[in-house]
Amino acid sequence: MVQVQAQPDASRPIAPEKVREGIDLTVNGERFVHTGDPQMPLLWYLRDVLRLTGTKYGGELSGADLVLLDGKAVPAMGVPMARLAQRKVTTVEGLAGADGSLHPLQQAFIDEDAIGCGYCTPGWLIAALDLLNRKPRPSDDDIDQLPVLCRCGCHTRVRRAIRRVANGGQS
Ligand code: FES
Repeated sequence: MVQVQAQPDASRPIAPEKVREGIDLTVNGERFVHTGDPQMPLLWYLRDVLRLTGTKYGGELSGADLVLLDGKAVPAMGVPMARLAQRKVTTVEGLAGADGSLHPLQQAFIDEDAIGCGYCTPGWLIAALDLLNRKPRPSDDDIDQLPVLCRCGCHTRVRRAIRRVANGGQS
């Protein structure tokens, strides 16, 4: 049987293919384009779209949803996708090295037994990283003011872990 290919209808103008618009952002070094609701909070995008579930929902002011946005710790629940064009997001999943080696803060949290149930831990790690980037030798007061709540009462051990990193690995 001879196949007859349909010929384009020269009388109809060819519509240019529509460029799909979206919000172009980088998460943990990878580029993504969000084409959904621009009002979606970043937290839902990370957890439900990218399946990066390290960042937690903990309610307002819990700090469990902290991520680095262009290097600064912000609550992912409070940032709509519309504000993320050309921005760089780092979540707790982005802290370890490409070879899987732990970030010094992650190691210090383990060494100082600063993890209870672990729900707040991603928030602490992001908040601590932000603090150490701004102030490599933070005071106890600086650490105590980090905007993270731990219902398991790990604050003292978290402080020790952050100080361990600030002291170059010594507790
Ligand atoms: S370790 Fe459980 S809430 Fe902090």
